[in-house]
Amino acid sequence: MNTTLTPVTTLPWAAEPLPWTGPGRPATRPLDVLGVPGQINLDYAATAPCASVAADAVTELLPWYASVHRGAGQLSRRCTLAYERAREEVADFLGARADDHVIFTRNTTDALNLLAHALPAASTVVTFASEHHANLLPWPSAAVRLPVPASPGAAVRALDAALRELRRGTDPGRPVLVAVTGAGNVTGERWPVAALARVAHRHGARIALDAAQLAPHAPVDIAALGVDYVAVSGHKLYAPFGTGVLVGRGDWLDAAPPYLSGGGASAYVGPATHQVRWATGPARHEAGTPNLLGAVALGAVCAALGAADRAALHDDEQALLARLRAGLAALPGVEELRLFDAAEPRVGIVSFVVAGRESATVAAELATAHGIGVRDGLFCAHPLTRRLIAEAAARRGWRNPPATALRASIGLGSTVEHVDRLLTALAGR
Ligand SMILES: Cc1ncc(COP(=O)(O)O)c(C=O)c1O
Repeated sequence: MNTTLTPVTTLPWAAEPLPWTGPGRPATRPLDVLGVPGQINLDYAATAPCASVAADAVTELLPWYASVHRGAGQLSRRCTLAYERAREEVADFLGARADDHVIFTRNTTDALNLLAHALPAASTVVTFASEHHANLLPWPSAAVRLPVPASPGAAVRALDAALRELRRGTDPGRPVLVAVTGAGNVTGERWPVAALARVAHRHGARIALDAAQLAPHAPVDIAALGVDYVAVSGHKLYAPFGTGVLVGRGDWLDAAPPYLSGGGASAYVGPATHQVRWATGPARHEAGTPNLLGAVALGAVCAALGAADRAALHDDEQALLARLRAGLAALPGVEELRLFDAAEPRVGIVSFVVAGRESATVAAELATAHGIGVRDGLFCAHPLTRRLIAEAAARRGWRNPPATALRASIGLGSTVEHVDRLLTALAGR
């Protein structure tokens, strides 16, 4: 397998690339990530770098490139097998139950829109106002939006109260779906998913987990968490190419009209207009030729991460995160954004504001003068981020806080040097 990209974690950040091919080539470690030496990527929460194992899986399959589920040739059969094996790898990685559907989508946004499309008639959806837009906007307009909670415990209590109220006097058979994030994309704070799932089920509701930010950092086990649906994005999970997944209970999905109509989703099409019998299972919502390479790349990452010592990876990331947060806290005029107490668990994401500086200007300076990539803006969680900026400014007594925030996020391949370079650049701003 050859590729011209360099696994950046095998290199000091500013070193010359090592030869990639030939006898001097370093052994690829499955969880190395690709990158460009000299460029410090601290924007994993938007899109994580591609894992070597994903690039290798794609490179290996490319010569076999052919149709999926549509051809009798050997190339095609191998591609079909690879696609279905990727589905199994994703299912194993996410702890799917035997009868869950594993549906490839384009990303988390697509997966949650698919679930919204599959809701039974008269369903009620309950979310928190702190969700990413992808978990706010797809739901029917009558969705219940609970206020941003002040602690994980308050979230559980608020959901309990809301579901009790919702159930009062209504048909107990009426479908209710709770949709929550596993880790927030603005603050990285973790949500009490298992406790929320218990509450949801106690009230006869189902629960969907937006694991876009949690799955790259911590194991997500559908069965152990007790959630009914999980959505993830491949591009945040070290796999490129626009692949996401919706995993979960098959009944609503099999009863819903296909997400897209067309070949692959239809089991039988007769001569009359609309004389069609739709497939059940994942195929029902995967019409059209699928994104084979994206699925295979994601499957390869899932297999590699599933086999890795995730507790050790988590410890490394937490040590780096603690260094980043402590460094930011020590910088004058910098304040972190948070919903919960500062000690509550988080994944490797920190958003912050700099007093008297527009975030876009700071981000541009970090990029041009220091080769550091961070995110600035409202992070597709506008109501939440505006509120957290105002709260951060109030804690520090700032009168004119910036309109937007900065976000640094880390993961596989992030190093102490990356973090320190950011802190040094911010100190000299
Ligand atoms: C928590 C969360 N949910 C959903 C999404 C949407 O992901 P995608 O853009 O891959 O659809 C994001 C993206 O940042 C996110 O952070």
